[in-house]
Formats: sequence, C-alpha cells, structure tokens
Amino acid sequence: RTPLRSQGPRLRRRTAAALLASAVSLCLVAAGAPAVPLGVGDRLFPYLGNPGYDVAAYDLAFRYPGANTEPLQAVTTIDAWTTADLDRVNLDFAHGTVHSVQVDGRPAAFADAGEDLVITPEEPVSRGNWMRITVWHTSDPASPKGREGGWVRTADGLAMANQADAAHLVFPCNDHPSDKALFTIRVTAPDDHTAVANGLPTDVDRSGGTTTWTYRTRHPMATELAQVSIGRSTVLHRTGPRGLPVRDVVPTEHRAALEPWLQKTPDQIAWMESKVGAYPFETYGLLVADATTGFELETQTLALFERGLFTGSSYPKWYVESIMVHELAHQWFGDSVSPRAWSDLWLNEGHATWYEALYAEEKAGKSLEARMKAAYGASDRWRASGGPPAAPKAPKPGQKIGIFRPNVYDGAALVLYALRQEIGRPAFERLERFWVDRHRDGTATTGDFVRLASEVAGRDLGGFLQAWLYGEKTPPMPGHAGWKA
Ligand code: ARG
Ligand code: ZN
Repeated sequence: RTPLRSQGPRLRRRTAAALLASAVSLCLVAAGAPAVPLGVGDRLFPYLGNPGYDVAAYDLAFRYPGANTEPLQAVTTIDAWTTADLDRVNLDFAHGTVHSVQVDGRPAAFADAGEDLVITPEEPVSRGNWMRITVWHTSDPASPKGREGGWVRTADGLAMANQADAAHLVFPCNDHPSDKALFTIRVTAPDDHTAVANGLPTDVDRSGGTTTWTYRTRHPMATELAQVSIGRSTVLHRTGPRGLPVRDVVPTEHRAALEPWLQKTPDQIAWMESKVGAYPFETYGLLVADATTGFELETQTLALFERGLFTGSSYPKWYVESIMVHELAHQWFGDSVSPRAWSDLWLNEGHATWYEALYAEEKAGKSLEARMKAAYGASDRWRASGGPPAAPKAPKPGQKIGIFRPNVYDGAALVLYALRQEIGRPAFERLERFWVDRHRDGTATTGDFVRLASEVAGRDLGGFLQAWLYGEKTPPMPGHAGWKA
C-alpha cells in the first residue's frame, strides 16, 4: 500500500503516547508501585485500558436491591488471552468495593492504583494463554464526585451511560474501545422490576421473589457501549426489515405517548440499510429513560434516550426523528465499527451527524447544503476551541461535554461533505458501504478511513484529508469557492 501523508502525524502521536506510557510506568517503578502501565496510551484518556491481554468475553452479574440509592452486589468474570507474560494483571475499576478476586479459580491478591485494580495471581501468567479472572465487588449507582457517567439513576431504577471513560465505574474491565468482547449480562431484581441489557435474552429465572434475567450479545462490543436497564418498565416488540427483532424499553406509564415515535424505527432502519447496507446486529431498539442525562447514547442494540426528547418538549417532529436516526446510524458507525482510539471519535459522530442531516433533508426538506454552509462558517472557531476533528483537545476534568464538542459533530460531518464534494457522490456512497463492511465487528482508525477513501477514489487523498482532519484552519470547500470560514 502507498504510504499516505496523513500517517505522519498519527505515527508521531503514537510515539508520543508510547513515551508517555513508559514515563508513567517509570515513575511508578520509582515510587515502588506496579510496573504495569496504567493505560494503553490513548492520547485523550492515557489511563484507560491495559496492555498485556485481550478480553474475549465478559460475564457480568448484578443483584439490584430494589432501590437505586444502594450499591448493587456484582460478580464480573473475564475470559482473556494473554499477549505478554504477566506477574500482575491490571483492570480498570473505580467506584466500587472489591471483596475478592480469583485468577483461574485460585485466590489472587489485589490492590488499587489510581483507577486500576491491580491483581497479583499466585503464579505469573505466561504469554499466549487463556486466563479467567473473577471479581466479587459492589457497583455503586451514586455519581462519583466530579465525574459523569456510569450508572444513571432513573425515576424507577437504573440505566447506563459509560461513554467515553465510565464503564469502569460500573464493572472491572479493559475500558478501551480497542478491546471489544462478547458480553453476557445477568441481572437479579425484585419480581416487579424488568431488566434488559445488550443483545437478546437467553434466560429468565424466577425464585424466591426475585427474577434473574440473562442477555447475551452475538457480536463483540466495546465496554463504553454496555447497557443495562432496570426499572418498572414495559418491553415492546415489533419487527424490522428482514425480520429483525425490534425491542423498546419504556417507562410503563408513558407507553402510549411514546408509541407514535417508536413506530418510526423499522422505517428508519430500512432507510439506513438503503444507504449503507444491512443492519449489523441481532436486534435494535430504544431504551427510553426517565432521566436527565442531557444526551442520547448509542449503546449497542439498545440505544439510550431521555424521555424528555419525546414528551413534554417542544422540539419539532423532524428534529426528534433526526436524533433517532443519529443514534441508529451509530450502530454502524461507532458500534459495529468502533474507534481504535478516542481521537478517532470524529468517525463516530461525523457519520452519525451526516445521516441525521441527510435524513432531515430527505424526509423534511431541511437542506444539507445550508447546514454544511453554516458549519463551514463556524468551523475555524470549532477547531480553535475543540481542536481539529481528528486531533481533539483533551477533556478538562469535570467538564460535562468533555470531548463531545461541535468539532467532532457538524465539524466532522463537514469533512465528509468536503470529501463527497471532492470525489463525487457515487464514490462517496461506495466508500461508506465498503467502510462498514470491511470493519464490521472491528475497530478502525482515521488512517484506515483515509486509505479506504483513496482506494475507492483511485487516487491519494492523504493530503486533502490531512488538511481537513488535522489542520488548524478549515481548507477551501471544493465546489463552493464563495463559502466563508
Ligand atoms: N455519543 C453520544 C451521541 O452523540 C453523545 C454522548 C455524550 N456523552 C457525554 N458523556 N456527554 O449520540
Ligand atoms: Zn452521536
């Protein structure tokens, strides 16, 4: 393959991240702490993830006490393949109490280091082996100080919003989207509650006043996309294109008001399929939560929506529907194809915003070009405040919007628009289909997108996309010489 110019800065950043990671571990060695680095060197979240193993499967078991104010008792079992000799194994975990840990059925010592749980097995685990880690712990639904995400309290129970760095506030994990895995999720709750999680149900077990619900994913999933709903909810079933099971979870008393919105999903799935190809998972649906998160979230197969988006708000109908399509589009862009690092977030949000805007144009006559022209006018400002789309600035601690700034939403959709202007609609549409097909169930980088775009267009787009993705200033828009940044 032809090396592209855009790989330059990526490689340099990787190197910087690696240097940072080794500097962090050197400091820890000096301080007498574990030599395992506290992260995989993500530029935006340096402490997330752990080197040395690759998780294949999580089994999460939660016992809900019937109130969302008390910690849940939990057991997390992780099956992982080791990629290095490990005398210690780090997991990301904070905001719960660990009772005990086993590695391959033998008791293991454990200690906290920052937001890592550092596990020392009786015997070191050598490279190229399966290991099973079991952690008995609590999972606390109270928001930790100065942090957003993890469990979200709803009027009648709990939901989850882990993106980007909060899954490890709920369960011990390798909390980075570069390590996707299969999930089995079991929830035990009082009989008058209903629990739903990612994937499809495999078991419902009633005994002694509680019910245990088991769900399993058929596709690998990033920890940030895990979802568990516990509440006095109703589960609604309908059928999508090609027999796809569509399942929504709603607060029972709002069922009737939500129904007209929920009925839109099958047609929206069909519309997305007409653009980019088959829906990538075994089911889809909305989890409508009585909560005030202030955002929607594309949790895999079961996307989280705040009830206020639909009821008691004055949003125009077309807008609400376009947000539904945004979260749906994420199932392809962000979930099935997930980012290798958080700097690749523009691939998630740019594409979701793109299909949101395209849907609004096709179904409600809201001009995509007008939206992109407005984005062009704001783009230099967005780049200054949030960084270029593919090199976003690090989140400030405690800042609610974190990395989710306009530079990676309309600012990134604008990059896709520029690309479409540059290579033409047919090539752009082929690229989109190839992209989700080639990277289905995997992770992908900005460099992968640049390479595929070049391949599909039949010419090197490295220089063109370099400027759009990494430049401080917004480049001229092909075909719109009159647009002002
Ligand atoms: N990915 C979500 C969406 O655009 C937004 C999540 C915002 N997350 C946050 N922690 N503020 O659909
Ligand atoms: Zn989004």
